[in-house]
Amino acid sequence: MTDSMYDGRPIRWGVIGAGGIATSFCTDLALLPDAEVVAVGARSSGTSDEFADRFGIDVSHRHSSYADLAADPDVDVVYVATPHPMHHDAAMLAIEAGKAVLVEKPFTMDQAEARSLVEAARARGTFLMEAMWTRFLPHMAAIREVIASGRLGDLVLVTAEHGQWFDKDPEFRLFAPGLGGGALPDLGIYPVSFASMVLGTPTRITAVSDPAFTGVDAQTSMILRDDAGRHAVLTTTLSAATTNGAAIIGTEARIEIDPTFYRPTGWSILDRDGTRERFENTVEGGGLRFQAAEVGRCLRAGLTESPLLPLDETLAILGTMDEIRRQIGLTNPPTP
Ligand SMILES: NC(=O)c1ccc[n+]([C@@H]2O[C@H](COP(=O)([O-])OP(=O)(O)OC[C@H]3O[C@@H](n4cnc5c(N)ncnc54)[C@H](OP(=O)(O)O)[C@@H]3O)[C@@H](O)[C@H]2O)c1
Repeated sequence: MTDSMYDGRPIRWGVIGAGGIATSFCTDLALLPDAEVVAVGARSSGTSDEFADRFGIDVSHRHSSYADLAADPDVDVVYVATPHPMHHDAAMLAIEAGKAVLVEKPFTMDQAEARSLVEAARARGTFLMEAMWTRFLPHMAAIREVIASGRLGDLVLVTAEHGQWFDKDPEFRLFAPGLGGGALPDLGIYPVSFASMVLGTPTRITAVSDPAFTGVDAQTSMILRDDAGRHAVLTTTLSAATTNGAAIIGTEARIEIDPTFYRPTGWSILDRDGTRERFENTVEGGGLRFQAAEVGRCLRAGLTESPLLPLDETLAILGTMDEIRRQIGLTNPPTP
């Protein structure tokens, strides 16, 4: 089924939360021919105007509340780009207004919040997707094809890491308990989601962690295992810039994804005998638009979720995150 309401015109985006990633997303959206940012909702008119000026948003679509943005009749899709603890309520406003919604990663703080959004979107019949942008990058699409072709043989192991060094500022979102801080929710979600893409949902999870000075997790390492005995060995840290590569290892060959694995990048297939086939990165821009292209494709096809990142998988990923958080004692806000 196709939905003719989008025929012959761009998909119109409205942004909730005019911060860092919203700026990067809208900059990249400009490279997508059939999408445009038409509206912004911020907590204050000053921020809203500043953002709107940057992206040429009309005065009539500059909102100083998230509810007004959600109610804007000229918006097709709402992009939720607030800190994670505010994702749920902002996304719910948009779902209740009947909008399609793309919610930044991590989708929500826990699986219960995610379930509440998924149930609301399904009841309302609106499109909903987690903005795990890595899933939609061209190198990930090509890698999924290689895995499906069987060239790697039986999969044995996935490795992935995401570590960055940050100045120890207690106000900074990644260290602030009230803003959903911690390596795991912000950076660790990338390796966890990558492992889910390749191996599916784990049945056994082991995690160890050490806290930052604010009580959120500074460094967390995880081993996920499925019933076939396949492992994912994942790590995340706020304390150091790690390699940030990833690998998918099978009995016949392995894929090595260059650092930084979760951004547009090159990659290789190495057969067991050491023969290397190389694929270079050809993506122009930051790569955030590929998730927007998938939203547009789904809307034009009349879909309410993406087959590349279905809502049941998002729920399962949040379930994995819940279990890791339980094991490492990361609560929100963390217990002092
Ligand atoms: N995909 C990626 O590569 C990527 C990269 C970075 C971040 N992210 C995700 O995007 C989300 C936002 O991260 P960010 O780095 O853009 O954060 P940020 O620069 O701090 O911006 C967040 C925005 O959310 C709004 N907000 C609402 N309640 C807030 C509160 N209590 N405190 C601070 N801001 C509040 C603010 O906008 P208004 O004043 O306009 O309301 C603020 O500008 C996070 O969930 C993060 O995980 C994704």
